[in-house]
Amino acid sequence: MQTLQQEIGEFPTLLYSTANLLSIWLLDVAREVSEAARLDGFDISLDQCPPSPWLPANMHLHTWNIFEEPPEEFREVFDIVHIRLITVAIKDNDPRPVLANLRKLLSKSNTPPLQSTLVQSN
Ligand SMILES: C[S@@+](CC[C@H](N)C(=O)[O-])C[C@H]1O[C@@H](n2cnc3c(N)ncnc32)[C@H](O)[C@@H]1O
Repeated sequence: MQTLQQEIGEFPTLLYSTANLLSIWLLDVAREVSEAARLDGFDISLDQCPPSPWLPANMHLHTWNIFEEPPEEFREVFDIVHIRLITVAIKDNDPRPVLANLRKLLSKSNTPPLQSTLVQSN
């Protein structure tokens, strides 16, 4: 099984993780990918996340409600958008509003082999 870095190659990568909670997934990824990758984690609340000084230098956490428009600075910039265990936040059993907002984050400027990707892990 390939590591995430092997899958995405050596490209400097902008990677976003939503509904981040304790930032566990993003911290695991930070150990796998190049330090040139920028990792951004988002959640409606950062209360349970590690404080900034404990994070790797290339990792940043932000507050964002996934039912609102993404902040301008984060639109169409990410190579990979990751979601996991977001079902608790889905309203009326309809994930489409959330997926539509997450798609706005994906970069449109990538060239193969790195395509913008919306990833959901288990
Ligand atoms: C079950 S946790 C999943 C944590 C993480 N994705 C993981 O896999 O470990 C659900 C997360 O969704 C966040 N959340 C709930 N509603 C949200 C919203 N409207 N916008 C952004 N995050 C939200 C919660 O704060 C919580 O961190």
